[in-house]
Amino acid sequence: MIIDCKSIAQKYKDMAKVKINRMWNEKIIPCLYIVQVGNNPASNAYIRGKLKDSEEVGIHAELIKLPENTPEKQIQKEIDDCQDDYMVDGFEYVCSGIILQLPVPEHINVKNIKIPDWADVDGFNKNSEFHPCTPLGVMKLIDSIGYNLDGKTAMVIGQSSIVGAPLCDMLMKRHCNVISINSSMERYIREEMLLRADVLITAAGRMNLITENDLDCKWNIKINSYENSGSCPDLIIDVGINYKDGKQYGDVSEELRTDKYNHCFDITPRIGGVGLMTRAMLMCNTAHVFTK
Ligand code: GUN
Repeated sequence: MIIDCKSIAQKYKDMAKVKINRMWNEKIIPCLYIVQVGNNPASNAYIRGKLKDSEEVGIHAELIKLPENTPEKQIQKEIDDCQDDYMVDGFEYVCSGIILQLPVPEHINVKNIKIPDWADVDGFNKNSEFHPCTPLGVMKLIDSIGYNLDGKTAMVIGQSSIVGAPLCDMLMKRHCNVISINSSMERYIREEMLLRADVLITAAGRMNLITENDLDCKWNIKINSYENSGSCPDLIIDVGINYKDGKQYGDVSEELRTDKYNHCFDITPRIGGVGLMTRAMLMCNTAHVFTK
């Protein structure tokens, strides 16, 4: 079945909204600063989503869009300036989060840009008060559909410091056995390991990394569709984002989202999937800074 990520994300946004509304009544408004350097089209789309969600939950989001060639020092100054609260028409605007939209142009080393831990609502700092939004969103998604991770085996493809690696930690904390690989692993070894996985999470950024041929599903003539043979995952979470001819795809091929796999596993949709959860977690983290 395709997982309804939209309503799950909505549930978390509504929770953030309730927290924020209480403070609006006191004339205190949370601000989320989004610093973007350059004009990356994918970033523009993500930022539009973050601005939309912020408006919906009552966060005053400000986009600080800097030219492609902005030096690191100037970016840092902009970030430092965001931390000051201000008053307008009797309303107090309080800095409740700052994010530097990635990717940044090549001349910038993100390690040189400092966002204080308390404002790091992306959860990217080593000592951040927050978990990174995408892995946190994946965990909330798994919990929301009532899937019990205890003693299960999850295969995570992708080992980035902001998605794959923290996700493995979070899964392990939930007593899940974790197989962590990256997309360079030989396909036949990956396929063999996949037979042991109850949950597959792909965050590799490779279109069609997982196709019908990678899974061991069994055709059931009575229901005219595949069923889970026991050696194919119960749950597939596709975090990958890839573009082809202006259209967005995940790492998992589209045929696995067709009706014939309905009885085999639950899977996130191509559009309106994990991305919505990432955004909802950003709203929750920002609401948390604001209300703590
Ligand atoms: N670029 C793609 N995803 C993200 C994200 O979650 N946060 C930031 N800051 N940049 C991104």
